[in-house]
Amino acid sequence: MNDVINCIMERRSIRRYKPEQIKADELKQILEAGLYAANAGSRQSSFVVVCQNADIICELGQVKSAAFKGRYSDGERYVSKEQPSIADDPNIKNAYYDAPTVITIFTPKDFLFGAYDGSCMATNMSLAAWSLGIGSCFIGAAWEAFACELGQRLLVEWNIPGNYHADIQLCLGYPLDSTPPKAKPRKDGRIVYAYQMGAGGHHQMETMKTLVMRVQQETIAKSK
Ligand SMILES: Cc1cc2nc3c(=O)[nH]c(=O)nc-3n(C[C@H](O)[C@H](O)[C@H](O)COP(=O)(O)O)c2cc1C
Repeated sequence: MNDVINCIMERRSIRRYKPEQIKADELKQILEAGLYAANAGSRQSSFVVVCQNADIICELGQVKSAAFKGRYSDGERYVSKEQPSIADDPNIKNAYYDAPTVITIFTPKDFLFGAYDGSCMATNMSLAAWSLGIGSCFIGAAWEAFACELGQRLLVEWNIPGNYHADIQLCLGYPLDSTPPKAKPRKDGRIVYAYQMGAGGHHQMETMKTLVMRVQQETIAKSK
């Protein structure tokens, strides 16, 4: 496995952070990685706001946590046993887990691919962070945090255009624990090869060739 694939396989969501702030040059690299994410139509329509104000992070994190209506861990189902999420532990009052840095990704409200773009950005940033020894946690439905009075004031202060909304957030910080949480085993059956070669596969390929030829002949016939 090369370094990139290794990073993809080893990255885990981190929900326990050291209080110290991440270094400015590391943050810069993470943000740059976000800017270079794949984006629909090459429009580069999403943008980020970096917040390192502990009071703001704490207050928005509490609002976000209070807005959460998902299930809580029931012993069999859980998000993470090693580093519980707000879905696992109702006692966690800050949905950003006291991370020293929280990045909010803003995307256009009326753009079909807004959330896709934002997710690509978040993924790039979380992988870049991991490669630098920085932990991250993806937070969805970021707009919930901005529904409060403070959130509304911040949108004005940060000059967020009215047609944009807070879509995704990424918590960042140095991991508190020296060993990251383990990945859950992958569920079976999530990869399907539609036209696999091998026993039976050759037959499928023949069927495919016949289909392609028939479509080509029909197309030629229509054009005459
Ligand atoms: C769309 C999306 C939303 C998520 N929202 C949250 C969240 O609100 N809080 C949280 O702790 N983790 C959140 N996560 C992180 C997932 O819980 C985590 O990726 C999952 O448990 C798999 O663990 P891993 O990232 O360590 O592989 C979110 C991930 C995605 C992709």
